Amino acid sequence: MDLTAIRFVKVLPADQLRDGELLPVEIDGTPVVLVRHRGEFFATANNCTHQDYPLSEAGFDARDGVLVCAWHQACFDVRTGAAVLPPATEPVETFATRVDADGWVQIALSGSLAR
Ligand code: FES
Repeated sequence: MDLTAIRFVKVLPADQLRDGELLPVEIDGTPVVLVRHRGEFFATANNCTHQDYPLSEAGFDARDGVLVCAWHQACFDVRTGAAVLPPATEPVETFATRVDADGWVQIALSGSLAR
């Protein structure tokens, strides 16, 4: 993905999210989950691809780097969005992130966030 052509939106200062924490954010009305994992930030759509439960209410398993849906325990790799444990079989959408010079986490306005 060519990130130079993509716009980003500032979300929060990087030091306000600890490792293993997740945060629901809404970007232009689209719900997104931001996760800090081993010092890096990852963003996914906030909808389980099984039956649409909000992944912001998921647990985060830092050992495997997966969001664990609170409804039927489907697991999604936060780095790739891949559904790694059923009942979900479809991946969850992911969005690139970066930390800017001011230390703010930014999320790429790509895919369903592109306007
Ligand atoms: S809604 Fe997430 S596993 Fe069923």
